[in-house]
Amino acid sequence: MARAGQVGGTATAPRPTLPAPSSRGGHSTRTAAAPQEARQDGAAPRQVAVVTGAGSGIGRAVALALSAAGWTVVLAGRRAEALAETSRLAGPAGPDAPAITTVPTDVTRPEQVDALFAAVHERFGQLDLLFNNAGTFGRAVPLEELAYDDWRTVVDVNLTGSFLCAQAAFRTMKAQEPQGGRIINNGSISAHTPRPHSIAYTATKHAITGLTKSLSLDGRPYHIACGQIDIGNAATEMTGPMQTGTLQANGQTAIEPVMDATDVARTVVHMAALPLTANVQFATVMATNMPYIGRG
Ligand SMILES: NC(=O)c1ccc[n+]([C@@H]2O[C@H](COP(=O)([O-])OP(=O)(O)OC[C@H]3O[C@@H](n4cnc5c(N)ncnc54)[C@H](OP(=O)(O)O)[C@@H]3O)[C@@H](O)[C@H]2O)c1
Repeated sequence: MARAGQVGGTATAPRPTLPAPSSRGGHSTRTAAAPQEARQDGAAPRQVAVVTGAGSGIGRAVALALSAAGWTVVLAGRRAEALAETSRLAGPAGPDAPAITTVPTDVTRPEQVDALFAAVHERFGQLDLLFNNAGTFGRAVPLEELAYDDWRTVVDVNLTGSFLCAQAAFRTMKAQEPQGGRIINNGSISAHTPRPHSIAYTATKHAITGLTKSLSLDGRPYHIACGQIDIGNAATEMTGPMQTGTLQANGQTAIEPVMDATDVARTVVHMAALPLTANVQFATVMATNMPYIGRG
C-alpha cells in the first residue's frame, strides 16, 4: 500500500466534457499557491472535493457522482486498491476529464490526515468540499459485552477521524483565497435513534451532529458551510445484515428494505453544488419503507 500523502493515479486520458459545479457564491478569483488551471473551454475552474471512505459503498457512489458532475475528486481510505477501483470506475482520464486522485489515508492517524490535506493543497491549491464519510458500524453485541478495544475502534474512526478531517479541511478553507468551502458530514438515522446493540455506533453518530453544529457555527465568519446527511439503509457492505435479517427493537429479526447508494450520492451532489450562501443543514435520505418512522 502506498504511503499516506502519496498522490497516485491522477487521471489524464479523454472523458466526455461535463458541466462544472456551480460557483462559490460571491467569491473572487483565486490566488492560492497552485490554483486549478483555467480550462481550455473558458469554463470556471473545476472545484476540488475530498471524499473519505471512497473505496466502497456510499463514498464510492458519491465520488463517482461528483466526478460525473465535473468535480476534481480526491479519494481517501485505507485500501489503495479499493480507491484505484473507484478511480477506474470513473472512466477513462484525459485533459478535459475531471481529475481523480487517490491518497491512501487512515483517518484515525493525525499525521496521515495532515498528509492528505497537504497533498491536496500541493496538487490543487484549493479545497471546496470535504465529504466526511469514512465510518464503521463495529460489533453488534449486547453493550455489557462490548470490549474496550471495539468501542475505541468505532470512536476513533467515526468521531475522531471525522474531527481530524474536518479540522484539516477547516484550516485549509479558512486560509485559502478566496476563503471558504463546504463540509458534509455523514451522520445516520442512528444520529437520531438507535438500533439494538449499537451503542458505539449510535453514540458516535449522535456526536457527528454536534460536530456538524459546531463546524457550522465556527465556520460562519470564514464562509465555511457545514451540513449533514443522515442515511437509512443504503445497500452497501455495512448494511448486509439488514438485507439478510437484523435484530429489531421488539426482539424479532427482520429483513429490511434498502435503497441504492446512488440515490444518496445524488443528494450529496445537490448539497455540494449550492453556493456558499446556502446550506442544507440536515438531510435525511432513507429507504422509504424501512422501520424508522414507527420503529419499535
Ligand atoms: N449504508 C447505510 O445505509 C448507512 C446508513 C447510515 C450511515 N452510513 C454511513 O455511511 C458511511 C459509509 O458507509 P457505507 O455504508 O458506505 O459502508 P462501507 O462500504 O463499509 O464504507 C465504509 C468506508 O469507510 C472507510 N474506512 C473505515 N475505516 C477507515 C479509516 N480508519 N480510515 C479511512 N477510511 C476508513 C472504508 O475504507 P477502508 O476500509 O479502505 O479504509 C470504507 O470505504 C459511514 O460513515 C456509515 O456510518 C451508512
